[in-house]
Amino acid sequence: MCGIVGYIGSKPPVPIIIEGLRRLEYRGYDSAGIAVAGGPVQENGSSLVLRRAPGKLKNLEAVIAERPIEGTFGIGHTRWATHGRPTEENAHPHRDGTGTLVVVHNGIVENYLSLKSALITKGHKFVSETDTEIIAHLIQDELELASLMPHAHEATEEANESIAVLGDSTKPSLSLEEAVRRAVKRVTGAFAIGVLSAHEPDKLVAARMGPPAVIGIGEGEFFLASDVPGILHHTRNIHFLQDGEVAVLTKSGVTISDFEGGALPLKVVRIAWDPIQAEKAGYKHFMLKEINEQPRAIRDTTLGRVSLETGKVFLAEMQVSEKEFREASQITIAACGTSWHAGLAGKFMIERLARLPVDVDYASEYRYRDPIADPHALGLLITQSGETADTIAAQRELIAKGSKTLAICNVVGAAVTREAQGTITTNAGPEIGVASTKAFTAQLTALFLFALYLAQVRGTITAEQSMELVDELSKVPGKVEEILRAVDDQCHSLAKIFSTSSDFLFLGRGIHYPIALEGALKLKEISYIHAEGYPAGEMKHGPNALIDETLPVVCIATKDPHDPSSVLKYEKTLSNIQEVTARSGRVIAIAIEGDEEIKQLVEHTIQIPQAPELLLPILEVVPLQLLAYHIAVRRGCDVDQPRNLAKSVTVE
Ligand code: F6R
Repeated sequence: MCGIVGYIGSKPPVPIIIEGLRRLEYRGYDSAGIAVAGGPVQENGSSLVLRRAPGKLKNLEAVIAERPIEGTFGIGHTRWATHGRPTEENAHPHRDGTGTLVVVHNGIVENYLSLKSALITKGHKFVSETDTEIIAHLIQDELELASLMPHAHEATEEANESIAVLGDSTKPSLSLEEAVRRAVKRVTGAFAIGVLSAHEPDKLVAARMGPPAVIGIGEGEFFLASDVPGILHHTRNIHFLQDGEVAVLTKSGVTISDFEGGALPLKVVRIAWDPIQAEKAGYKHFMLKEINEQPRAIRDTTLGRVSLETGKVFLAEMQVSEKEFREASQITIAACGTSWHAGLAGKFMIERLARLPVDVDYASEYRYRDPIADPHALGLLITQSGETADTIAAQRELIAKGSKTLAICNVVGAAVTREAQGTITTNAGPEIGVASTKAFTAQLTALFLFALYLAQVRGTITAEQSMELVDELSKVPGKVEEILRAVDDQCHSLAKIFSTSSDFLFLGRGIHYPIALEGALKLKEISYIHAEGYPAGEMKHGPNALIDETLPVVCIATKDPHDPSSVLKYEKTLSNIQEVTARSGRVIAIAIEGDEEIKQLVEHTIQIPQAPELLLPILEVVPLQLLAYHIAVRRGCDVDQPRNLAKSVTVE
C-alpha cells in the first residue's frame, strides 16, 4: 500500500528520499510527506523539519522547491489512504504531541479507537484522522512513562501547519528503539513503520508486523523502504525485515532486534532483480503479484472491523443509522464488470444472513430501466476505482430517486465515496494490472462483513453464529495462501493443455455462478479467448448444444459438507457435470479437498480447502485467476495491459 523511504548517510537525504518515493508512487499517491533532521537548526532550536502535501508527489516537490529543507537523515512517505481522507493533515510523517518525533506507517492499527481514547484520557491531542498519529503518541507515551520527556501533550499550533516546531534538546534516557518496541507491543493490526526523533540525531528506527519493510546496506549509508524498488538504484544488498523485528539505522551500521530487545542477525541478501522486476516484487507481471497479494488484501479489509471474541462487526463512517438499516426495504447494488460479479455474490450473502431482498444491476443499465423510487431502499455501489462513470451515473440516479447510497471502494476519497453516506474501504492497495484480482476478493470480503453487520443490526443471526462466521472469515487469508502454494503448478500445466482452445465455458450454481462469470471474464479479457459463464442448471436449456470434445468446461463444484442446502446444490451440479462429460466435454472441476467422488467423474480437478458456503467464492476464484493468467502468458498476451481496455473507465 503506502510507500516508505528513509536515508541515513553522508549525502543530502531529500533528493534520495524523493527519488525513492517516486519509484514507489505506484503503491500510493494521494498525498506525500518528508521529515529530515541534522541540518541547520531552526528558530525553535531544532533541526527537524517536515513538509507534506496532498495529491501526487509532484505537489510535495513544489512545496519543497518553495520552502527548501536540509538535513543529514530523514524519512518520507507516499500514502494510499485507509483511515482518514487524503488531505495534508492526514499525510505522513505524523508527529507526536511534543512535535519532537515523527512516524511514517504502512498498514492499519486495528485497535486505534481504544488506543486513541486511552491517550485522549491522558491528555493527548490529535490533529489528524489517521491511525498512524496514534503510533507517534504511543511512542511519546512510552518515553513519558519512563519519565524522561517533558509532558507536552498538545500538538503545537505550528504542528497544524506543515512545519514541525521542535526545540527540546534533552536526550531521554529511554532509547528511541526501546520506546518503539514498547509502543508497537500495544498495537494490534499491521504495521511497517519508520521513526525519527529530534532527541536522537542520526538514527532511524523501523519495525515490522505484516506489511513489508526492507533495509538497504550501502557504503557508509543505509536505507529503509517499504519495497526494494525504492532503494534498488542505491544498493542491492538488502535485509528483508521480518515480522516482529526492529531495525536501528545509524551512520555506522544497522542492528536488528526482536520486540523484546533480543539481538537478531542482519541477513543481507543480494538482489538480482532489474528495476522493473523489483516494482513487481520479482513477479513477472503486476497481475501475478496482485493475485499473490490477496491474503493480505483480505486480511487488511477485515482488520479493525471484527471482534473475534464477540463476533461483532464494526463499520465506521456510516451516516446511515442502525434504525435505517433495520427498516430498509431492500438493497440495490449497482456496479460494473468484476465489481458487478462481486455484487451478485453479495446478494447471496445479504439475503441469506440479513434476510433483506437485494437487486443487482449493471450500473451502465440502471438508469435506463426507470427504477421505482423507494425511500427505504438503500443503494450500494461497488467499485475498485470509485471513478467509473457508469457507477457514478447509477449512484446519481439512486440519489435522485430518494435512496441513500453506500460504497464499497478501494480508493479513499474517490468520486463515488464523496457522494455516498458511508464507505467500506477495501484496503487492497493500488491495483495496477487492468484485470481486477485482489480488489475482487477484497470486495467479496467487504460484502461478507456488510451482510454480517446487517444481520447483526436486524437481529437475523445469533451471537454464536456470528462468532463462528467471523472465526471462519479470519481463516480465509491462510486458506488463500494455501491455494496459491498448492495450485499454481497445476494451473500452469492446465494452461499447456488448453491454451489453444478457442472457447471456454464456466459453470456454477447459486453463489458460485458469479464466480463462474468472473472466471470467464478473467480469461477473455487477458487471453482473448471467448469464454462464457453460465448457471450450471441452465445448460440443458440451450448451451448444451455447444458441447463437444474440444470444449473445456470449468465447473465450480464445491460444497460446505455441514450445510444441507450447499450439499444439495453440489449434487445438482454433479448431475450437470455428467451431462457435459456424456457429450465428451472436457471438464476442469473446482472442488473441495477430499472430494474423491468428483475425481472419478472429470478429467481434471483443482482442489481448494473447505469453508462455509458464503466464503467459498473467495477461495474458488483464485485458481480461476491463475488459470487465466497462465493461459494468457502462454498465448503471449499483454497480461497487465490487455488490448482495448483501461483500468478506470471514466466514460459512459
Ligand atoms: C475486470 C475489471 C473491470 C472492472 C470494471 C469496474 O477485470 O477490472 O470489469 O471491474 O471496469 O471498475 P471499478 O470496479 O473500478 O468500478
